[in-house]
Amino acid sequence: MEGRKGTIFTVFSTAYAVGKTLIAINMAAELAHEGLKVCLVDLDLQFGDICYYLKLAPKLTIADAQKDMKEHPKDAAAAEFLTPYKKGKVQFDVLANPKLMEEAYNMETPIIRALVQQLQLEYDYVIVDTTSTFSALNLAMMDLSTIINFVCIVDFIPTIKNMKRGSDTLKELGYDDSKIRYILNRSNAKTRIDVEDVESILGKHFDYVLPNDFQTAQNSIRTGSPFVIDACHTPLAKELAGVVDGYISPGKVEKQEKSDNQGGWLSRLFS
Ligand SMILES: Nc1ncnc2c1ncn2[C@@H]1O[C@H](COP(=O)(O)OP(=O)(O)O)[C@@H](O)[C@H]1O
Ligand SMILES: [Mg+2]
Repeated sequence: MEGRKGTIFTVFSTAYAVGKTLIAINMAAELAHEGLKVCLVDLDLQFGDICYYLKLAPKLTIADAQKDMKEHPKDAAAAEFLTPYKKGKVQFDVLANPKLMEEAYNMETPIIRALVQQLQLEYDYVIVDTTSTFSALNLAMMDLSTIINFVCIVDFIPTIKNMKRGSDTLKELGYDDSKIRYILNRSNAKTRIDVEDVESILGKHFDYVLPNDFQTAQNSIRTGSPFVIDACHTPLAKELAGVVDGYISPGKVEKQEKSDNQGGWLSRLFS
């Protein structure tokens, strides 16, 4: 285990209900399907959906892990607070969001950061699901990440305005553009807005495009099964598996790790 450091993928967006959680779950499942050791972390602390989508009933959560770390800073172990998910041959672990709102409110960014770094030592991949805010916590996770998956959706004008604001903010904070992947989700959903127009507003092309597939997405949530496992022949599952397979193909991720930001989000915000 010595010297080993897993790769962190964060799933972020500037709008709600764009598919972050579904994408994070399916990224974890696809990586696990490839035989990699994966931990999925729910950092939508107040309204996390991972356990709900996977039909897990965690005994322990990230709030218990924080308590343990405060009580035993020297020998706390994040891995003791995980909930296993298993479907057929696919298995990964989940660090669940707190059960109580009060616990969620009292979570501390430096402790969460330390917990994720501990998991990084034990897992090949740590997938972090977030909320749609530029919070200290989300920025701390983006700093640790090798890839930031910026999930986009083309529905209404304010959503596009906020995507642009988010993309500009990431740039202002100094994140290397090669670390950010723009994923357009629900691409063929009915809208009067042209994707090309959105790309020209953003000043970049979407790196990946996932189709709108209500049936597959809903079935996945209803059955508690990631669609890359149970609906692997659907275009949605194939596209998402393709994103993940691209990330883990030799040479791709290692190259990005070298260009990781060193300064830290706080120093960049106030410099
Ligand atoms: N590609 C897709 N096609 C159809 N529905 C989708 C797709 N991706 C996500 N959804 C649906 O959108 C809703 C919000 O997804 P979720 O992953 O919870 O978003 P977020 O985590 O960004 O709030 C869910 O009901 C989910 O089934
Ligand atoms: Mg979510």
